[in-house]
Amino acid sequence: VTFDDILRPIERESFFLNHWARTPLLIKGLAEKFSSFPSSEALPGLLAGILKNGKWSDSINLFAEATGVSRSGEIIRLKSVPFSMYSQLYNAGFSLCFRDVSIGNKVLESLVSDCDALSDRKASAIVTSYLTPPHCNGYVHYDYQHVFFLQVEGSKFWRISERPGIECPIENLAYGSISQAFLNGLRQKGYEISIPSDSGSLDLLLEQGDVLYLPPGYYHVAHTREKYSFHYTLTLESSTFWDSVKIAFRNELLKNHAEFNRDLRTMPLEERLEFYSCQLETLRAALNALTPGDLEALIRNASR
Ligand SMILES: [Fe+2]
Repeated sequence: VTFDDILRPIERESFFLNHWARTPLLIKGLAEKFSSFPSSEALPGLLAGILKNGKWSDSINLFAEATGVSRSGEIIRLKSVPFSMYSQLYNAGFSLCFRDVSIGNKVLESLVSDCDALSDRKASAIVTSYLTPPHCNGYVHYDYQHVFFLQVEGSKFWRISERPGIECPIENLAYGSISQAFLNGLRQKGYEISIPSDSGSLDLLLEQGDVLYLPPGYYHVAHTREKYSFHYTLTLESSTFWDSVKIAFRNELLKNHAEFNRDLRTMPLEERLEFYSCQLETLRAALNALTPGDLEALIRNASR
């Protein structure tokens, strides 16, 4: 499976020109579009790994995130649920989100490596999966990455925002778990997030074979009705200027670890200020020496 297969019948060029990093896109597909993907019935085996030639490998998915609703109507999010509780929680009405499931499966691995090849810059791609029982609710949030929901079985109802909460967000935001004071603090630093009720909303139904693309920062929340839902999320990280800069900073840290990473809590204040001044000098010199070509080389050579 390739990235182009996911987009079909939309052409890749048209997608990157009109939608990528700009607007959400719903691509209606035939029910058999994802027939080569592992089905929900294959999921437990996929998570447990492979036992072959006396070696057990790829049992990497030992924890999942579970989301459900309490008796009083509050959303419950359990972030690290062990394998042994998957069945109990699913049967009790929780939606399960499994971390990167692409490792050890040829179809999903081929999709990931095709996405890696979209750019000569390093930009990671992962595939997670979501198994949601009927009558289950999610929580409003946005992701800082590009996400593609691939509806493999059943159906899911989505409410998405018409505008992003913020352009090019630097991290995810779960709307229910933050306060106005938190948003005000960020606004003072120049990072202005609009809340979901100010971002417009659009209701969509994803059925078997459909794909929904959301650029970074678009709010979304999903629920199921009579049918269960099984979908994969293809997540493409942005590959940014700051990613290159972070590598450059880390290289400086490696080189100057004895100073930059030294514990300063017992150093007297006056000495500390003098010390900062020295290290700032080192950092400035390094930044001044850095060229655009260096930044490009750093991200190209970064391990995928
Ligand atoms: Fe999300």
